Amino acid sequence: MPKVLIATVKPFAPIAVEQIKKIIENAGYQFALLEKYENQDALKQAVADADALIVRSDKITADVMQAAPKLKIVVRAGAGYDNIDLKTATEKGIVVMNTPGQNSNAVAELALGMMVYLARNRFNGKPGTELKGKSLGVHAYGHVGRRVAEIAKGFGMELFAFDPFIPKEEIEKDGVTVVDSAEELYTRSQYVSLHIPANEHTIKSINYTLLSKMPQNATLVNTARKEIIDEDDLLKMFEERPDFKYISDIAPDCKDVIAEKYPDRYFFTPKKMGAQTAEANINAGLAAARQIVNFFEKGDRTFQVNK
Ligand code: 3PG
Repeated sequence: MPKVLIATVKPFAPIAVEQIKKIIENAGYQFALLEKYENQDALKQAVADADALIVRSDKITADVMQAAPKLKIVVRAGAGYDNIDLKTATEKGIVVMNTPGQNSNAVAELALGMMVYLARNRFNGKPGTELKGKSLGVHAYGHVGRRVAEIAKGFGMELFAFDPFIPKEEIEKDGVTVVDSAEELYTRSQYVSLHIPANEHTIKSINYTLLSKMPQNATLVNTARKEIIDEDDLLKMFEERPDFKYISDIAPDCKDVIAEKYPDRYFFTPKKMGAQTAEANINAGLAAARQIVNFFEKGDRTFQVNK
């Protein structure tokens, strides 16, 4: 009987856990839960007899896999899998999957919500600005980017996108103008919303060269990963461009400098919380549980990311 462990520092909503448990137990598997653990040792202990793992941004390092001799599958309930050591997983024959699209609406709603919040001066009563008629560049048109574009359209924003991996026609049918380079995207967009993963090609790729191309009253919106931003360049933008603002659900390492020097030009949520809704937890968590059952029962490897 496979043992399936949910290991989440940032727990799912209780209703999601309940429903995941039901799927696992209905399949005749053993269910275990480790939430809000304080260090990697606690995680290593818990994985010792696990055959399958459901995680969020939890760090699944070589060490953790070493401590889990029975582990056959890790499902990241969410989109980004930069928290999992794919190379080691592949070497050990461990299948890694994500659950693409399952939490994208939550992230997209937060991106637009934060944009309104800062454009309205954090609701302090002073006159702000509207999103209607402003340009928005969607940097990568995956599940979240697409949903951001869809909601932004409702606000009456003018939409641009750059994504070299998606056919132009597919994006254009959403009424979004496709541009040919990241440079062009930043040049044409007063708002840029980031939806690229963090990997060796993208880390620190959002730099001064791109940001400095943004027109006046520029706002960068980051619900992706903090590692994709070149923070020295970010600070340079703040210093040189009094019109520049930055919004994120993952505070940068340099957040204290920004808070001290540019208090009105940023907003960061206290914790990464793009995907923190009951709906997103249910969608992603249940998808993860079903993928695990289908993997054990039918050998289904749809959504495997370490092929
Ligand atoms: C993702 O990659 O799916 C999002 O960043 C959400 O991450 P979380 O599950 O850790 O909140």
